[in-house]
Amino acid sequence: MIAIFDFGSQYTQLIARRIREISVYSEIYPYYKMKELNRNDIEGIILSGGPGNVYSKDAFLVSKEDIERFNVPVLGICYGMQLLTHLYGGKVIPGERKEYGFTKIKIKKSKIFKGLKKEQIVWMSHGDRIDDLADFKIIAESENAIAGIENSKKNIYALQFHPEVVHTKNGKKMIENFVLNICNAKRNWVSKSFIEHSIQTIREMVKDKKVVLGLSGGVDSSTLALLLSKAIGKNLTCIFVNNGVLRKNESEEIQSIFSKFDLNFKYVDAEKIFLEKLSGVTDPEEKRKIIGKVFLEVFENESKGFDFLAQGTLYPDVIESISVKGPSDTIKTHHNRVEGVLELIKENRVIEPFKELFKDEVREIARELGLPQSIIERHPFPGPGLAIRIIGEVTKERLNILREADYIVTEEMKKSGWYKKVWQAFAVLLPVKSVGVMGDQRTYENVIALRIVDSIDGMTADWSKIPYDILQKISSRIINEVKGVNRVVYDISSKPPSTIEWE
Ligand code: XMP
Repeated sequence: MIAIFDFGSQYTQLIARRIREISVYSEIYPYYKMKELNRNDIEGIILSGGPGNVYSKDAFLVSKEDIERFNVPVLGICYGMQLLTHLYGGKVIPGERKEYGFTKIKIKKSKIFKGLKKEQIVWMSHGDRIDDLADFKIIAESENAIAGIENSKKNIYALQFHPEVVHTKNGKKMIENFVLNICNAKRNWVSKSFIEHSIQTIREMVKDKKVVLGLSGGVDSSTLALLLSKAIGKNLTCIFVNNGVLRKNESEEIQSIFSKFDLNFKYVDAEKIFLEKLSGVTDPEEKRKIIGKVFLEVFENESKGFDFLAQGTLYPDVIESISVKGPSDTIKTHHNRVEGVLELIKENRVIEPFKELFKDEVREIARELGLPQSIIERHPFPGPGLAIRIIGEVTKERLNILREADYIVTEEMKKSGWYKKVWQAFAVLLPVKSVGVMGDQRTYENVIALRIVDSIDGMTADWSKIPYDILQKISSRIINEVKGVNRVVYDISSKPPSTIEWE
């Protein structure tokens, strides 16, 4: 495995990902864990980028001895390069011209650039530059700065730019050269070995104690349920809370799927209390807060007496908690990191096997564990559910209208093969009525908006260019089949400036 030490770069998780893409396992550790890290399977180490300056009084530092004790090849990226220069007696100075973005560099012969042409386009993001090289040799230069150095005897390589981002055209090749040719790492990262490794770790941690998991029916928590049940069987209890704002048939489907696996499944019907608390509430933030709060109350009440809490947290959810203070810790606070959970983490009572993984990697594990395709391919669904897709007050009647409309959207998207092609597709119930005509009768009914978007990670999105005939089918089915709707509109806004959900 390749150990990546994080010095606060927003790109650190991408390094891990690029390495796993070439089937080598890698894990990220905060830089201050370097001293104490004790594993005998490390084949190479990478020092990430970071926002700091090696000379500042609160600089993130490690020592030469910390690095050399692993006795494996080293790659420094950006801040990592400056740190290596500093540790080995060189000098870093503030650059006169800061380099950000696409930059042309010229490379020299080096193992890390094997197979690449002399001129390369790379992605720079730094202000400081190397001045005195100490024991290093220059292997790449841009117009303004040294872009790469090496000490091949010591097996140390360093790049001023970011090979892990896609903007560095041949970045993946450079990482591959380091990992496969310089570290000679074994290509054995597959979901199977991850599953085996996790099962063992979970067993060692849990022993014969009890674990509770909040199962939402989404791919992350469902996959985790199967992994845990393989590891600890009946010592796992999954709690599924019906919060009253789920989609049509959702709670029945989840119950039916999980009844086939050997685990304790606890269904909690909390519909009444959720809908009571939501009654009369129209403000979006208020709705979200109520749902979050009631969920915690219900879950806490149901999960008393357990020793461990398991969560399907993914890497993007914990960027802030893994990293040291830097730009990467200010992106968002996730519900998996609320106060109560942080307490449990301190007590080492939280199990999060996926916290180094990305969604598509979890999907691969899900396939390996035999989760039904219908869950693996499911679109994301927000915690506050349909409540934030009913603009205005959430009532049983309005929920029923939205459920039926949403069901038709999903059904038609699946039938046409478009469900898999888009990030999300759903219906939104608007708080306006409009005039229509049905038969010879005037109608005055609700409006449904269709929201169908393409996205890579939900952070940005564009409205999907769905063929007209599919939109037409969805629209006419909703108007004909859902009582209380006489108009359907298509949302053609991208994110930003809009968001995917309406509330
Ligand atoms: P927005 O509306 O912010 O949504 O563009 C981005 C993605 O996040 C999902 N989403 C949520 N997921 N709890 C969740 O688990 C939430 O409160 C929540 N709000 C939005 C949304 O469906 C989209 O995929």
